[in-house]
Amino acid sequence: MTALLEIKNLQTEFKTEDGIVRAVDDVTLSVRAGEVLGLVGESGSGKTVTALSILRLIEKPGAIVGGSIRFDGRDVLALAEKDLTELRGDRISMIFQQPKVCLNPVLTVGQQIAEVFLRHRSMEKKDALDQSVELLRSVGIPSPETKVSAYPHELSGGQAQRVMIAIALALTPRILIADEPTTALDVTIQAQIIELLRKLCETTDTALIIVTHDLGVIAEIADRVAVMYAGQIVEEASVEELFDTPQHPYTVGLMQSMPTLGDRRQRLNMIPGSVPRPFHMPVGCRFSPRCRARVEHGLEKCLTDPPALTGETRKLRCWLEGKE
Ligand SMILES: Nc1ncnc2c1ncn2[C@@H]1O[C@H](COP(=O)(O)OP(=O)(O)O)[C@@H](O)[C@H]1O
Ligand code: SF4
Ligand SMILES: [Mg+2]
Repeated sequence: MTALLEIKNLQTEFKTEDGIVRAVDDVTLSVRAGEVLGLVGESGSGKTVTALSILRLIEKPGAIVGGSIRFDGRDVLALAEKDLTELRGDRISMIFQQPKVCLNPVLTVGQQIAEVFLRHRSMEKKDALDQSVELLRSVGIPSPETKVSAYPHELSGGQAQRVMIAIALALTPRILIADEPTTALDVTIQAQIIELLRKLCETTDTALIIVTHDLGVIAEIADRVAVMYAGQIVEEASVEELFDTPQHPYTVGLMQSMPTLGDRRQRLNMIPGSVPRPFHMPVGCRFSPRCRARVEHGLEKCLTDPPALTGETRKLRCWLEGKE
């Protein structure tokens, strides 16, 4: 099946006072219609910058400096500003970690959903508001006829995220990008929101890119997973393959640091060390300073030569490949 979204060798950087930060360096990813792709990695690994790059939302002094993004056969990086409006919201939409920050405090929930229809579709205001009530119902907001007139501060965190999901799915996009959509919510609500996203995307055949640092979320919802480390994809596999036989030492470390199901607050066996800082990237493999497997296998090459991402359906960026 051909990919709906195809990202090749994407590079995104920011100019800072200290120099250039390449937040995304050589990311290759594809998404098929209707599938759920999980993008996972520790904080600072470049997940959000990748997501924003897809929608061309990187603002100066940041810029996409290399690679290509194709959506539905079109070159996203070559799109004119007016075509970007259609791409964003209409074809690909995005929800973020802090739903309340994204909602406008002075407009009612209904006004904000209706606004999407009024901007992108020719529709009477009354019809747009009626549609908003239906959307609120579909995302599980109780008494949607009343809640449509509520202001954001009258909503709980979970309700606000449901409203954001309603706005994001209002125009039935082909892809929804959800960036840490449940991180700010408490655990029971998290599970409900994940289930809602899964159900809605399945019903509308919308592909979902779920961005998270939480492998538990990935296990619940994703079909395929890409693991990101220091601006690069280090492993990609189906969710079953990844959990059954993780191959990259970083993925193995992430699995071992997964909190036990009983207590999600308890983090065990954290990977020692931290994601390298942008100006101190290791010369060879970016994970080498933290990699126990390298030491165990006596791999010198890891310290001098950066490994490439190789493989077809299952991909790996590691010199260890085939050494087991
Ligand atoms: N506007 C910016 N200016 C400078 N550096 C940035 C900017 N946005 C992100 N970065 C850097 O890019 C890297 C990746 O960030 P991000 O994509 O937000 O990580 P993640 O979402 O995986 O936590 C980080 O090192 C971060 O400091
Ligand atoms: S290339 Fe070497 S250092 Fe990097 S993850 Fe693989 S074994 Fe570890
Ligand atoms: Mg992020």
